[in-house]
Amino acid sequence: MVLSGGPSSVYDPGAPGLPDGLLEAGLPVLGICYGMQLIARATGGSVARSPVSEYGKARLERFEGRLFEGVEGEFVAWMSHGDHVERAPEGFAVTATTASTSVAAMEDAARGLYGLQFHPEVLHTPKGTQVLENFLRLTGVSRDWTAATILATLEEEVRAKVGDERVLLAISGGVDSSTLGLLLARALGERLTAVFVDHGLLRQGEAHQVERALTGLGVNLTVVDASERFLAALADVTDPEEKRKIIGHEFVRLFEREARRVQAEKGRIAFLAQGTLYPDVIESAGEAGAANIKSHHNVGGLPEEFDFELLEPFRHLFKDEVRALARELGMPEELVERHPFPGPGLAIRCLGEVTPERLAVLRRVDDIFVSALHEFGLYQETWQALAVLTPLRSVGVKGDGRTYAYTVALRAVTSVDGMTADWVHLPHEFLATVSTRITNAVPEVNRVVYDITSKPPATIEWE
Ligand code: XMP
Repeated sequence: MVLSGGPSSVYDPGAPGLPDGLLEAGLPVLGICYGMQLIARATGGSVARSPVSEYGKARLERFEGRLFEGVEGEFVAWMSHGDHVERAPEGFAVTATTASTSVAAMEDAARGLYGLQFHPEVLHTPKGTQVLENFLRLTGVSRDWTAATILATLEEEVRAKVGDERVLLAISGGVDSSTLGLLLARALGERLTAVFVDHGLLRQGEAHQVERALTGLGVNLTVVDASERFLAALADVTDPEEKRKIIGHEFVRLFEREARRVQAEKGRIAFLAQGTLYPDVIESAGEAGAANIKSHHNVGGLPEEFDFELLEPFRHLFKDEVRALARELGMPEELVERHPFPGPGLAIRCLGEVTPERLAVLRRVDDIFVSALHEFGLYQETWQALAVLTPLRSVGVKGDGRTYAYTVALRAVTSVDGMTADWVHLPHEFLATVSTRITNAVPEVNRVVYDITSKPPATIEWE
């Protein structure tokens, strides 16, 4: 049993507690962060409020015990907590400490109870996976949750649910819907119709790349090139919310048209497939508002004539599991590893008017930036990287002449889920190279700035 972290304090009224009898059940239990604090409190340890929350990377001063077996060298741990375990309960050994946390890990091997104050599950704890593997070994659980078994399970579930019916899927170009396309094509063959509405707001070469990869892997894909229609609808619109609304609306209308066409040609479609992931499910169940991040992809606003049943095979998966599945299904690596990209695409990164000319400028800048991240080996370290075309123009010089050109902003962030983010401290030489390349190659740009704001207070996108 793994008890996860959470935002509450164990002392909050109504804070989630331990299920009755859990710690006495003889099951191995690993408590992470809040989970460890619950264990500590329930077994006679003490949990205290920290004067300041600890957030960020910490180095373990020492580590030992069963969870750390075989772990060598330095151990960097990601901390994110307000409370801390002040005194470990009787029977527990303190198995790790940091400069500011006296109980960074504890264990009672006899009872099979383990606690970690840091988060072993995030990328910022590079050796966290080893710790989790050790826990698994101790539990005797077999590691059969692999891409291959996930794939086999999902294929079977899809076939059982869909029977002989037809399925329609909207492809956005992102990894979730593309992977779903591959899975459904494998499970259902021609009974899947995937529709890729190319709104003309994707990055350089992206639409073709997606099309090639999916059709190459057997997806029955219809590409609707609707760039002109979207651009016409966006003409003179500068307000970002307005842009989003227009894009969402056009998208649903085009999808609707395609759905009608496919039904007329092939017969009734019973299911609408969506690449909903587990975090979306959690968000929708939780606070109102969190769920509308993906509202544009959610083809919810379809008229009643389509009484589709929803098919959401990924609703219990996390992003990294979808990526593993994508690889298993043969998706090219550059698509698998691609950074998140917003549904409304470059329209929201083109501050001010969205015109073909301005989009072309933004595409070139974005391509130079992202290609350089790959070239310097920095792409993987970045959770999301983007270029923004600002409406700001200012004076510059080039050769003998004066220029009056745009400022572009570059942004690169690390994040776990996009809810909070930190800007990446990209090396100065890298930034200098990219800046020179951009201003040399793109005459419409004479200034390049790098965004050094975290989220909050900023957001990841500019808009
Ligand atoms: P912000 O800018 O709110 O973005 O910090 C958080 C994450 O969400 C992505 N994003 C979107 N994704 N449709 C999407 O599918 C959208 O309308 C949208 N707006 C923002 C953004 O790229 C970042 O990864």
